[in-house]
Amino acid sequence: MGAADAQTKRPLCFLLLGPPGAGKGTQSAIIARRTGVARISTGEMLRDAIARKTPLGEQAAPLMDNGNLVPDSLLVALIAERVTEADCTNGFLLDGFPRTVNQAESLDRLVADRGMELVVMNFDVPRAVLLRRLSGRRWCPNCQATYHVETSPSKKPGICDQCGSKLIQRPDDRENVVAKRLEAYEAQTVPVIQHYEKRGPVHRVDGYRDVDDVFAEVEQYLTGAMS
Ligand code: AP5
Repeated sequence: MGAADAQTKRPLCFLLLGPPGAGKGTQSAIIARRTGVARISTGEMLRDAIARKTPLGEQAAPLMDNGNLVPDSLLVALIAERVTEADCTNGFLLDGFPRTVNQAESLDRLVADRGMELVVMNFDVPRAVLLRRLSGRRWCPNCQATYHVETSPSKKPGICDQCGSKLIQRPDDRENVVAKRLEAYEAQTVPVIQHYEKRGPVHRVDGYRDVDDVFAEVEQYLTGAMS
């Protein structure tokens, strides 16, 4: 799967769905690196807005710190603006959006207006594994690189390989906040999967495997979708 493959006649919109800790960020970063497709992570955009203390960041911070979703109107506007950038002309990949049926319906309209085709994947990982992944995740507040203390540690403990900053635990990876995020996922995002299942294929990916094994399946599916 090379950069040229990502440029089909009908632009594709890839959706990576799944619970917190399922590996969406990890896999979407690999897909973007290998294909050159534009990667849009709403979680990263919001954390960046918080770091820059923008009005969006000020609104999002207390919600995210408590494991709640940020209002649909803000997210829909964020995506609508981001996809007008030049790197999205030939398609894009969404990590963390849509997370509510309302967001999914807005995206359906956006995709139809742009003559795009949706390719939907849902990452499935047992809850106990999600909890281990989130509690062991370490994150760079400077460049947003992600590590895990056991499965993908940084070369120097506690220091980001990419920019040398000190790694921290994401504020929303605290145990009580994770429980709230999982509740929000069940209540608000599982219906999004059902929304897409009614419209076409949703490819289920067993995300409880090594990163490379998960990617091999993702790559095979995407290659089929792009041909
Ligand atoms: P967001 O940043 O999108 O968080 P999330 O969806 O909860 O997902 P995570 O980043 O926790 O997990 P992931 O699936 O990306 O897993 P990762 O690859 O990092 O959103 C954060 C918050 O922003 C939300 O709670 C909400 O408040 C707000 N928000 C964002 N989008 C929104 C929207 N559309 N609407 C409203 N609010 C929104 O992996 C996790 C760990 O596991 C890492 O340590 C990684 O190294 C490890 N790992 C990954 N894959 C494997 C593997 N195969 N084997 C072993 N370890 C692995």
